[in-house]
Amino acid sequence: MVGCLRLAMRPALRGIRSSGFGRQCQPPLQLVTVNRHFTTGPRPSGTGPLGLVCQRPVGGANSLAKDSVFSRVLFGRRFASTEANAPKEQSPKEQDKEGGQTDSLEFEKSEKALQASKVNLAAKLSKRDATVSSGSTRGDIMRLFSLVRGERLSLAFAIMCLLVSSAVSVSLPTMIGKILDATNDQNAEIFGLPLNYFYPALGAVFVVGGIANYGRVVLLRTTGERLVAKLRARLYRKTISQDGEFFDANRVGDLISRLSSDVNIVAKSLTQNVSDGLRSGLQCTAAVGMMCYTSLSLTSVMGILVPVAIGGSWIYGRRLRKLSRDLQQAIGKMTKVSEERLSNIKTAQTFAGEIQEMKLYNDKIRSVFSIGKKEAIAAGLYFGSSGVIGNLTLLTMLGIGSGMVSSGAMSIGQLTTFTMYAGYAGMSAFGLASFYGELMKGVGAASRVFELFDREPEIRSTIGRPVKNARDVITFDHVKFSYPTRPAVTIFEDLNFSIPAGSNVCIVGPSGGGKSTITSLLLRFYDPTAGRVMIGDDDIKDLNLKSLRRHIGVVSQEPVLFSGTIADNIRYGKPDATRFEILEAARRANCGFISDFPDGVDTYVGARGAQLSGGQKQRIAIARALIKKPSILILDEATSALDAESEAAVNEALINLMKDNCTTISIAHRLSTIRRSDSVVVLSSDGRVAEQGNFNELYARPDSHLSYLLRTREDDDVVSRLKQRIYEMEEQVRQERADEDEERVEMEMDRGNKLSA
Ligand SMILES: Nc1ncnc2c1ncn2[C@@H]1O[C@H](COP(=O)(O)OP(=O)(O)OP(=O)(O)O)[C@@H](O)[C@H]1O
Ligand SMILES: [Mg+2]
Repeated sequence: MVGCLRLAMRPALRGIRSSGFGRQCQPPLQLVTVNRHFTTGPRPSGTGPLGLVCQRPVGGANSLAKDSVFSRVLFGRRFASTEANAPKEQSPKEQDKEGGQTDSLEFEKSEKALQASKVNLAAKLSKRDATVSSGSTRGDIMRLFSLVRGERLSLAFAIMCLLVSSAVSVSLPTMIGKILDATNDQNAEIFGLPLNYFYPALGAVFVVGGIANYGRVVLLRTTGERLVAKLRARLYRKTISQDGEFFDANRVGDLISRLSSDVNIVAKSLTQNVSDGLRSGLQCTAAVGMMCYTSLSLTSVMGILVPVAIGGSWIYGRRLRKLSRDLQQAIGKMTKVSEERLSNIKTAQTFAGEIQEMKLYNDKIRSVFSIGKKEAIAAGLYFGSSGVIGNLTLLTMLGIGSGMVSSGAMSIGQLTTFTMYAGYAGMSAFGLASFYGELMKGVGAASRVFELFDREPEIRSTIGRPVKNARDVITFDHVKFSYPTRPAVTIFEDLNFSIPAGSNVCIVGPSGGGKSTITSLLLRFYDPTAGRVMIGDDDIKDLNLKSLRRHIGVVSQEPVLFSGTIADNIRYGKPDATRFEILEAARRANCGFISDFPDGVDTYVGARGAQLSGGQKQRIAIARALIKKPSILILDEATSALDAESEAAVNEALINLMKDNCTTISIAHRLSTIRRSDSVVVLSSDGRVAEQGNFNELYARPDSHLSYLLRTREDDDVVSRLKQRIYEMEEQVRQERADEDEERVEMEMDRGNKLSA
């Protein structure tokens, strides 16, 4: 039957083909291909009404058959002129010759481009200079430590454990010295204890030290993990509540790097590093104290070498801090590249761009590596030189110490104790130096984290009056607007229009004219530079943004789905939706294709809905908007990826929804969509409303902006109208069949009833 219908439509198509297409074109039967742009300014001489430049007058039906857009769309033919002008394949020699001529092919920079080059990146993070003054370093360190305020108790316990375990390890050299000195005396006592009591007591002390060490590690690790979790949650909350300007100015990869690696470094430097630093500090102090106690003269010799070590650590710490910042930034850039490119891998593969991508990524790897190498050299220099200094110190100490033992100034046990304390002191000083380096790393990472914490969005989503009902008149009142990142490019100069509550309005205008921007303003991703966007008597700036957005359903031009199932995606519009509501919304959005999936609405859609077609994604996005039962429904080219049949079906569902009294704003190019609107707002290319009014009235006026815009599109639209007609006829036949079936069943039931009677 469907096939028959198509056959039946063929003469109709042929008729249209041979007679020009549609009533609008006759008489006179001459088609005019016009340039798509239109202007409201003074007409240039020699142009048609509204400044239309007649590009190519085309005569009669023959030309239509060969050249028209209609023919191209419907019968797969290309413009004869396009074919004639198509570039022929060139030899490399010819290409070389042309190489020098590319200048003439370059796009001339328009005034808009000059304006667009004045970029405002005030919202961009990481504008801070890498070399931060020492004043701000202190401030940064203080702020870093303020993060552990909520963890004071567990940190206090950890520090207690640390004190105990450090005391045990610091006592070890003294114990060893005493044991060595007591080796020749069987009745000797150590700390007043006979040896047979002393050893078990020392063992018990070691066990206590071990338990304290266990407590320290567990407490610090869990505190660190808790800190990471809290920091990430706070940072993520802060990030997702930012406004449109922020996300225009910052790349996602950089934000992810702040959330992951920077937070880890901050937490590690506050827990593990602070604990290690504290232990080193304690051990160093105790060891030096014990060295002085054991032999003051030997200690003062050692003291000469200490300033060298301290100076080295200070220089190393500063250098490492700068390198750490650079490294984090380089890693951020590398993550950005991999994130963006891997998420669009199919496009890269389509263009066989793997090598290009590898090159780009390798460049980033190289810069990370070169900074890492610099860090390695700085670290190597430090560790190498400090090792030499340490060994020379040991040698000097043993030389002087053995002389003192021979002269009887100290015992062998005391020299051993002293040597061990000196070793402890050296190791602890070393630990303190890396503590400083790690702390500086933490400060570097923390400054990136704080930068994000401190960024207050210009548009706050949680303040303002809650919206009870958004079904009211929507007004754009003298709206002037430029995107914050490109303040010199004016998108709207003086935009004025209003949309009555519950009506169905279509916004039409040239591509790049600001149609989608209207959606962004209504959703308050941006605020107008001047003027107001109002719902009823309220400026939307005074309304609670979250609550306003809950009343608005949007199907955007390029709908994005999240990974998960179809049902998950539809439920995103209403998290507490029942399965019945999900299925109902899917049916209303004509998601019949779900029947072809074995798991139905529980089918996984892949990352960003990659396993679905464009039209399927659009219909799920429509279902996601419908399930909200919004007071305002915005459809930005919502059915552009659908074929005529599906579009007609979705339109029917939307018409039903409109009957539910929701205000619908459609942004569309297709006549079929524009036609079903109560009124039309036509945008001009200079950021104003060119005209607004009833569709039929505007369309009836040949000199209206709408007529002009549509005339350029109606070629495409004839095809879609014909397809829609076919679909309607098929529907009619289906309905008739269903009615017949129903009648037959009723007759059979009647017959059955009569027989049983
Ligand atoms: N986030 C942004 N930052 C800066 N400029 C932008 C941004 N988004 C859009 N623009 C610019 O604003 C202008 C209007 O864009 P918009 O998306 O509103 O056009 P449109 O009318 O929806 O076009 P189309 O019909 O092609 O979808 C364009 O020139 C575009 O380059
Ligand atoms: Mg758009």
